[in-house]
Amino acid sequence: MTQRVAILISGGGSNMVALVDSMTGDHPARPCLVLSNDPNAGGLEKAAARGVPVAVVDHRPFAGDRAGFEATLQRELEKVGAEIVCLAGFMRILTPAFVANWQGRMLNIHPSLLPKYPGLDTHARALTAGDPEAGCTVHEVTAELDAGPILGQARVPVLPGDTPDMLAARVLTQEHILYPAVLRRFAAGDRRPVFLP
Ligand code: GRF
Repeated sequence: MTQRVAILISGGGSNMVALVDSMTGDHPARPCLVLSNDPNAGGLEKAAARGVPVAVVDHRPFAGDRAGFEATLQRELEKVGAEIVCLAGFMRILTPAFVANWQGRMLNIHPSLLPKYPGLDTHARALTAGDPEAGCTVHEVTAELDAGPILGQARVPVLPGDTPDMLAARVLTQEHILYPAVLRRFAAGDRRPVFLP
C-alpha cells in the first residue's frame, strides 16, 4: 500500500524537492502535502510546480499558543490522510504531545552527525571543534530535540579553509541523497539505517 507522505518546510525546501522528485515509479510512497509555517517559503512554489498540494499554517497568529498552532497543523495532515511526516528545513519546535501522536511516523533531517551538535549552527560548531569530518543525520522525531533513533547518516570531509557556508553546501548535497534513500527504506517498513558513503 503506497504510503502518503506530508513534508513540512519553512524555507527554500531543497530537501523537500529531493524527496518529492524521488517518490516515483515503484517507490512505496507518494507526496500528499507540502506544508509551511511561513507563507513566503520558497518551497511552496516548487511543490505546486510539481503538482503537490500545498498548505500554509502561519505560526505567527498563534504566538504563545503552540497547542493551537499544532491543532491546526494536525487538521491539515488529517485532511490529506498523511501517514508519514517528513520535517525538511522545518524550523518550529514541536511539543511532546504532537510528536507522541506521530511517534514512529515522523522523520527529520539534521545537518550534523548526531549525537554531535543538536540544535543550531552545527557547521560553525564542527569547524570550531576542528572536526575532520561533518555530515547530516536523518532520525525519527521524538520529544527530545534532534535525539530520536538514527535512520541514516552521510559523512563529508572538512577541508582546509572551510567556512560554515562552504561546509553547509557540501553537507546539503549529501542531504539530498540521504533523505530520499532513508524515506524509500522507511516507507517500505525497513528501519535499518542508511550510511553514506
Ligand atoms: C538544511 O541544512 C537542513 O539540514 C536543515 O534545514 C536546511 C535547509 O533545508 N534541516 P532546505 O533547503 O529548506 O530543505
